[in-house]
Amino acid sequence: MKVLVLGPGGREHAIIRALLKDSAVTEVHSAPGNAGIAQDVPVHAIDANNPEAALALATELAADLVVIGPEAPLVAGVSDTLRDAGFAVFGPSKPAALLEGSKAFAKEVMASANVPTAMAKVATNREEAETALATFGAPYVVKDDGLAAGKGVVVTEDFDAALAHAESCFAAGGSVVIEEYLDGPEVSLFVISDGSTCLPLSPAQDFKRIFDNDEGPNTGGMGAYTPLPWLPEGFVEEVIERVAQPTVDEMARRGTPFVGVLYCGLAATSRGIRVIEFNARFGDPETQAVLARLRTPLGGVLLAAAKGELPADLTLDWDPRTAVDVVMAAENYPDTPRKGDAITGLDTANQRENVHVDHAGTALDGDSIVTAGGRVLAVVALGENLTEARDAAYAGVRDIAWKGAQYRSDIALAAAENRIQIPTQN
Ligand code: AMP
Ligand code: GLY
Repeated sequence: MKVLVLGPGGREHAIIRALLKDSAVTEVHSAPGNAGIAQDVPVHAIDANNPEAALALATELAADLVVIGPEAPLVAGVSDTLRDAGFAVFGPSKPAALLEGSKAFAKEVMASANVPTAMAKVATNREEAETALATFGAPYVVKDDGLAAGKGVVVTEDFDAALAHAESCFAAGGSVVIEEYLDGPEVSLFVISDGSTCLPLSPAQDFKRIFDNDEGPNTGGMGAYTPLPWLPEGFVEEVIERVAQPTVDEMARRGTPFVGVLYCGLAATSRGIRVIEFNARFGDPETQAVLARLRTPLGGVLLAAAKGELPADLTLDWDPRTAVDVVMAAENYPDTPRKGDAITGLDTANQRENVHVDHAGTALDGDSIVTAGGRVLAVVALGENLTEARDAAYAGVRDIAWKGAQYRSDIALAAAENRIQIPTQN
């Protein structure tokens, strides 16, 4: 099987690494890839978000399967163009990817399918905002409804601060979504679907803030670990039954079947499981940890899903060990990351036992590998438990250096110290 993987990042490096372990996969190609991916497979310098360019490359390679990593090509309709031309594609159609592309659409699908999520109201002016804030009570959750990207989500005990955030959004011409507060730890569960059958991967947790103790601005994710020792038994089964399967069924009923990864961003609250958000793809950097534990050959699973032939009784085989990955980011990420700095120590880290480096924002400059993006790489490690996996990952991190490199020192620490609890109802 010849596989083309679209996307430039750490998630794609992890997917490619897993595909190369599958004996049924004879060739892997990447577009556009990065300097680390280029050490493993041929890379093709095309615009992977351009449907025609992706189609031309898939045709030239005679790919048996195209795997789409990031959301941008999905939203641009790359999967539709390839599927229309007869390719097996792992990644949802443009209308199905709206589950990620529009918060309002996702809420509407969840309402139709009776999927538990935070109760929410849209407010367009001060009076509506005051009413909605009073309805849900503190802590208040106010979300900018899309347009002014970046200002994002405010969670606060302070009514006036919540109202002020809403008013700043109104002043910018936007509206807000005011939500019920979800009081539990967050879980990322990736569910592979062929349009009707759902297959869960190992649940993971991501760290969104740039600094230790969840301080500073949100990022794409600064690290992850899997599995989650604090999750109650039956959690994954319940997410399939109450969240993923009803959503996949609802999308099929609407004539826009979901083929790919339904990323369920969840909160484990005192009142049960709630969806925070859906994404239409593997998460980054959770994938780097999750796929490090996967023993089932990945290519066969993704091809079966792409063809609508995922066996209903399929379960995945996992390495019993724990995986942790720590992202190293460029100076000034997530604002305007510094680029072009030479990276040292990659070989030393990669030579450690049970450690490897997935590249994200890296490029070749002559003979040296340099930083080329905000999140530069992730050091991934396996260990017998969280403490061992953390120690190995951080040993790898300390091998690697460039000017201004930054990383969090507390990835998976609370879980390793048994400090994560699902709140109980009072
Ligand atoms: P979102 O952009 O909707 O993914 O939200 C970004 C982050 O804000 C989430 O990862 C949560 O940490 C937090 N958040 C979002 N919605 C809620 C909520 N209803 N209750 C508590 N925290 C939330
Ligand atoms: N790790 C968060 C995301 O991939 O969206």
